[in-house]
Amino acid sequence: MTNSAQYDIASIRNDFPILGRQIWNKPLVYLDNGASTQHPKQVIEAVKDLYENHYSNVHRGVHTLSQESTNLYDDARVKVRGFIHAACVHEVIFTRGTTESINLVAQSYARPLLKEGDEILITHMEHHSNIVPWQIVCEQTGAKLKVVPINDAGELELGHFLELLNEKTKLVSVVHVSNALGTVNPVKEIIDAAHGMDIPVLVDGAQAVPHMPVDVQALDADFYAFSGHKIYGPTGVGVLYGKEKLLKAMPPYQGGGDMILSVSFEGTTYNQLPYKFEAGTPNIAGVVGLGAALDYVNKIGLGAIAAHEHGLLMYATSKLQEIDGLRIIGEAEQKAGLISFVLDAVHPHDIGTMLDAEGVAVRAGHHCAQPVMERYGVPATARASFAMYNTYQEIDVLAEAIKKTINMFK
Ligand code: ALA
Repeated sequence: MTNSAQYDIASIRNDFPILGRQIWNKPLVYLDNGASTQHPKQVIEAVKDLYENHYSNVHRGVHTLSQESTNLYDDARVKVRGFIHAACVHEVIFTRGTTESINLVAQSYARPLLKEGDEILITHMEHHSNIVPWQIVCEQTGAKLKVVPINDAGELELGHFLELLNEKTKLVSVVHVSNALGTVNPVKEIIDAAHGMDIPVLVDGAQAVPHMPVDVQALDADFYAFSGHKIYGPTGVGVLYGKEKLLKAMPPYQGGGDMILSVSFEGTTYNQLPYKFEAGTPNIAGVVGLGAALDYVNKIGLGAIAAHEHGLLMYATSKLQEIDGLRIIGEAEQKAGLISFVLDAVHPHDIGTMLDAEGVAVRAGHHCAQPVMERYGVPATARASFAMYNTYQEIDVLAEAIKKTINMFK
């Protein structure tokens, strides 16, 4: 349960001002990172510096501030490219987040090509944002949504996945790391199998990129989506990575400023990638903050973060397994740093409230993954999700707070 000498947890924690807060006179134990992570001062400073010294609109002005803002905005795209190892910068589209990235692919890639009887293949462990956009496009086109089942441990049934892939499948859309179960899916294997039948794959990486190195070229993902606010960056900003060939062939998702080359009442010529998909004034501060967040993650190192979080997961799993009446939901062999659990005698919302009284922040609910809850026959779970700044001592506080909760409800 010790960290490597290089992993300076005290210095990392010191970078996150909010971690010094007290909640109900107890030190904050922030274990709701799957919902949204906290921000290091380097991100807060980058956003502050933009607004105090450089802010203006981007790609629209010749004046100094517009040039400076544009440079900061464009630099962030270069950082994202490097972070996920995209082949080129214009394969990185800034969106509002993972949800918008998936909706963009549903409407601009899938909708024009789908016809009645075609199929989109997803899995039983998807977040609503990787279910509902496909239901909408299926309603619009007459296509069908097919779902790969999961086993009791919360792992995909790969045999079923292979059986469901067929000539009618037009796209596979799969989560990299489940937000409700923590399962890490074998996305490379999935992509290779789909590509064997010329079927493109979208990967929802919202819960993956903060926790493990992701190389979209090594994966050969056709589309890869993630959000800024789950990787220590601001809300309202995210990324859609897409292969150039696919993005070039897709019509725009939204119309407006910046996505055009010329407009007349006779017709409009669209801008080149990536601007074709970035209509309107973008979330400039969000993008700049995301760039700073990726710099911060790179400085700590995703390998070191993954090792630290894996240690926390192992420790927390063994501590929570010792608690009578606690059931962990999601016991995949390959798991990222989160634990969903239920207690025999206490509703998850009460667990959330009781833990908050001890300063411990967890998420309680269906985690926007109601089909997962239905699969396990529970209305909701409590979920502790870890980040680079969490400590073993915080896991001890969590375990004690759960025991106290159980005693209170006896
Ligand atoms: N998708 C986020 C979560 O898992 C909000 O909590």
